[in-house]
Amino acid sequence: MKVIVLDNAAQIGEEVGKIFVNQVNNKPDSVLGLATGMSPVPTYDYMAKEYAAGNVSFKNVTTFNLDEYCDLPKSDKNSFYSFMVDNLFSRTDIDLDKVNFIDGNAEEKAECERYEKAIETAGGIDLQLLGIGTNGHIGFNEPADEFTQHTYKVKLTDSTIASNQKFFGDVPMPRYAMTMGIGSIMKAKKIVLIATGESKAKAAYAMVKGEVSPSCPASVLQNHEDAVIFLDKEAAKLL
Ligand code: F6R
Repeated sequence: MKVIVLDNAAQIGEEVGKIFVNQVNNKPDSVLGLATGMSPVPTYDYMAKEYAAGNVSFKNVTTFNLDEYCDLPKSDKNSFYSFMVDNLFSRTDIDLDKVNFIDGNAEEKAECERYEKAIETAGGIDLQLLGIGTNGHIGFNEPADEFTQHTYKVKLTDSTIASNQKFFGDVPMPRYAMTMGIGSIMKAKKIVLIATGESKAKAAYAMVKGEVSPSCPASVLQNHEDAVIFLDKEAAKLL
């Protein structure tokens, strides 16, 4: 695990954005693993900017998003699919036919198997982007007694609900999601994780300096051959 500390989220967005642009310029049909949330937004801004400048084309990439809420239509403005359309897909030439999402409204077992198979058929993920929850989650793999393996349906924890309810305003947010498992994430050839802000400091410490334990799911990245962690100064303050 390599740790890079930069001054702020904008700088991280530019550095991680460059990693994605270089990946796609070197291998135009790359398989990209994507995340939602606030952390990747500056990265997506950079990718959109480079696309607009004619410095990269995403038309041949295949994408897989990490997770999606259950019991929420795909077209809902708070679905992770809508988030990706707004923040990246509609701002680049990404081919929506090559975009893969878990269907959070489908029958759990068949859908999770379908998603795992689709990743495998695409040749596996070349470059996976991650954020981290204040409780150390990656994807929606919440702190648990053991590391999860494959895509599965998860009951969200109170801390995740407290972090994400703000996006739903007065409407209660979904209590369940489907997510790639830790095992699915660890199969990616390269992983880049972004953590910014003081609220991530404890989780960042546990991920980087703590023991590898499912009580901090992100700590598993210590075992990955090519994981790079980008922290801003606030998120790195306990290291
Ligand atoms: C999003 C996801 C989550 C977020 C994490 C951090 O697809 O899987 O693990 O990456 O909750 O969210 P932000 O970036 O909003 O702090």
